[in-house]
Amino acid sequence: MRKLPKALLRVQTESAHKPTSIAHESAYKHVTGRAQYLDDIPEWPNMLHLATVGAEHASAMIESIELDAARRAPGVVDVITQGDIPGSADVSPVFSGDLLLAGERVDYVGQTVVAVAATSLEAARRACKLVNIHYRSESARLSVQEALEREEFVLPSHTISSGDAGAAIARAEHQLQGELYLRGQEHFYLEGQISIALPNEDGGVRVYSSSQHPAEVQKLVAQVLGVPLHLVQAEVRRMGGAFGGKESQAAALACMAAVFAVRNQRPVKYRMPRRDDMTQTGKRHDFWNQYRAGFDSDGVIRGVEMDLAGLCGHSPDLSDGVVDRAMFHADNAYFYSTARISGHRCRTNTVSNTAFRGFGGPQGMVAAEAMLDDIARAVGADPLDIRKRNLYSADRNTTPYGQALEEEVLPQLIEQLEQTADYRARREQIRAFNVSSTQIKKGLALTPVKFGISFTSKHLNQAGALLHIYADGSIHVSHGGTEMGQGLHTKIAQIVARGFGVDLERVRVAATATDQVPNASPTAASAGTDLNGMAALNAVNTLKQRLLEYAAETYGADIERISIRDDQCWIAQRAIPFAELVKGAYIDRVSLSATGFYRTPKIGYNRTAARGRPFLYFANGAAASEVEVDLNTGEYRVTRVDILQDVGDSLNPAIDLGQVEGGFVQGMGWVTSEELLWNDQGRIISDSPANYKIPTAGDVPEIFNVDFFQRPNAEETVYRSKAVGEPPLMLAISVWCALRDACASLAEYRYNPPLGVPATPEQVYFCARAAKEYAEATS
Ligand code: MTE
Ligand code: HPA
Ligand code: MOS
Repeated sequence: MRKLPKALLRVQTESAHKPTSIAHESAYKHVTGRAQYLDDIPEWPNMLHLATVGAEHASAMIESIELDAARRAPGVVDVITQGDIPGSADVSPVFSGDLLLAGERVDYVGQTVVAVAATSLEAARRACKLVNIHYRSESARLSVQEALEREEFVLPSHTISSGDAGAAIARAEHQLQGELYLRGQEHFYLEGQISIALPNEDGGVRVYSSSQHPAEVQKLVAQVLGVPLHLVQAEVRRMGGAFGGKESQAAALACMAAVFAVRNQRPVKYRMPRRDDMTQTGKRHDFWNQYRAGFDSDGVIRGVEMDLAGLCGHSPDLSDGVVDRAMFHADNAYFYSTARISGHRCRTNTVSNTAFRGFGGPQGMVAAEAMLDDIARAVGADPLDIRKRNLYSADRNTTPYGQALEEEVLPQLIEQLEQTADYRARREQIRAFNVSSTQIKKGLALTPVKFGISFTSKHLNQAGALLHIYADGSIHVSHGGTEMGQGLHTKIAQIVARGFGVDLERVRVAATATDQVPNASPTAASAGTDLNGMAALNAVNTLKQRLLEYAAETYGADIERISIRDDQCWIAQRAIPFAELVKGAYIDRVSLSATGFYRTPKIGYNRTAARGRPFLYFANGAAASEVEVDLNTGEYRVTRVDILQDVGDSLNPAIDLGQVEGGFVQGMGWVTSEELLWNDQGRIISDSPANYKIPTAGDVPEIFNVDFFQRPNAEETVYRSKAVGEPPLMLAISVWCALRDACASLAEYRYNPPLGVPATPEQVYFCARAAKEYAEATS
């Protein structure tokens, strides 16, 4: 292999144990094609490939299934239906209802009914076409409104309230109400869902999975096989993107591959073709949000009532948490002195929706931001002033669920961004431009994000690590987190090197495996570094203490006067190379292996009372976005974006920058071009890149300034850093607000034109037309 250019290894050359912009540990492998994904692993000669038959109806009873022709097809080795599953057919993450294979009935188009194993993927897919299923079709419920009307829920509704919002709204000087339909989002990870299963002895199996949650893969594989967890190992080297789409959804592929592997005692690969992936795996939830607010003439909010209805699909999956998180973020960054926030989990005959970067947070926040804009236009003020007036502050710092904000970040952060983005001057220029321009209208919006960091299920806020120092001084660390491109392993290696005081090159992060670290939580909720970094550091501290004790004894020095830094052990003026220290410790029979553990302190939320502290802290940010809309077509461009993101004391500014830019552009895709559509039979029609448009390099804002708010985390997180994975996605709400701002200019910013998500050019065209018609009718 060619020697790596130094510049690719380090973006900046600083001492390895200070926070530095180290390149992603696999960056060079990613760009040269040497990073191994599951589909790159050379195939075993006797490997089987899987394909499945999906339901043709959104709601139907299965009357009969004809499998003979498929069984006789060339290359086919095995064909199964639900009855062939040795253990449980249910592969749900939390509740129940997600079936590996359908039983008596099907609940959405594409639901897997039959699975075929053959000597090639092509043979398996051809055989699937020979399966004949007879259905008795029933009426299907496809919309969230329909489900809400009939109170068809996958789980009970839930309400958070503080004070008497209804009375406060009635008493306020002004009232307004609004509603908003937000469509979902396809994850569109570059690497599709995939799993490989290898049969072991004693009926066990080792599965290689593209999953954010190997422990759950292990658990569900054991359940479908009907064996104890110790017979199943799940391993994840890396994913080619996940974005929440592989938190729960990856498990079914692993389970399917495992069932065939054990039945046939052959290696099995199950890789979903993109169209199956887009049809059969869950997406971001659609939400239908309704809100009512009471406010003063200066725009200060007195009371808010919101109903957030998530389209969950046919089963709960992770929807309870997703809708809860939407509710927790329905305040975004604003103090509601009284509030009633209700969340509904609507059951529909569609694929079961799941985690997606933000986990319901974005859908709650859009409601808050739409409402703030509405209030600003109702009182005739600049939306930024109304936002600033309603921000949480020292004496108005309690959320509707009773968590007091201990750290005040946004007032200063917004002030700073307002200056650097030159908001006021540009607002004036845009107003002037819009008065004189008839075909093109510009819009501007500066919106904040306050995102709660911790899993909202308390027990998930724990992590483990396993650390070995080998006799040559090299360090091997396993932890419970998975790498999906976000740079978690890079940050863990940095934390371990910094913790020991040794060079980064000493540290290697292992593939995530359930036989290395047990019972790990999913890598999600942006908490991967917070949790696993602390667990790794805990193990580092244990081993470092042992090494220091060994050095104290061996060199006859006071332990207080010994330190490890710059890859050396320092005893007064004497420096012993780290590798030599380790070798000596090994000869002296010191244990050089340790586990680490961490559980998040301070958190606790009582869901029955809907009060408490679900989050350890909040990650904050703000974005100012400017757009230019062509009124003739509704087409638009995002001409400038300025972002200020609070990442605490960054562990790796280069990686954090990538997360902010990537998250923002992914969020822009959600609010602008990504349009998920179903036909009236419940069949998805946006099922390929030809009819579903994710942003490309050409959609990145023309001017894109990203900066970090320089302040360490007030909480004792790992080296005072803050989570960065999800929060930046929600900064893109500013683009949506800017588009609505551009349209509102047609009615002198006095009218709130209706706009949903995504604001496709077609929708923006209608939004602008509504504003124009309002202006004409009222002039
Ligand atoms: N970045 C990349 N490149 N690929 C991904 O799949 N997933 C996001 C975010 N950033 C993702 C990503 C999501 S949904 C989450 S929850 C976090 O990364 C998870 O990783 P972390 O907790 O280590 O930040
Ligand atoms: N965020 C992301 N994923 C999750 C959560 C959460 O709060 N809870 C369970 N899975
Ligand atoms: Mo991220 S949606 O929490 O995987």
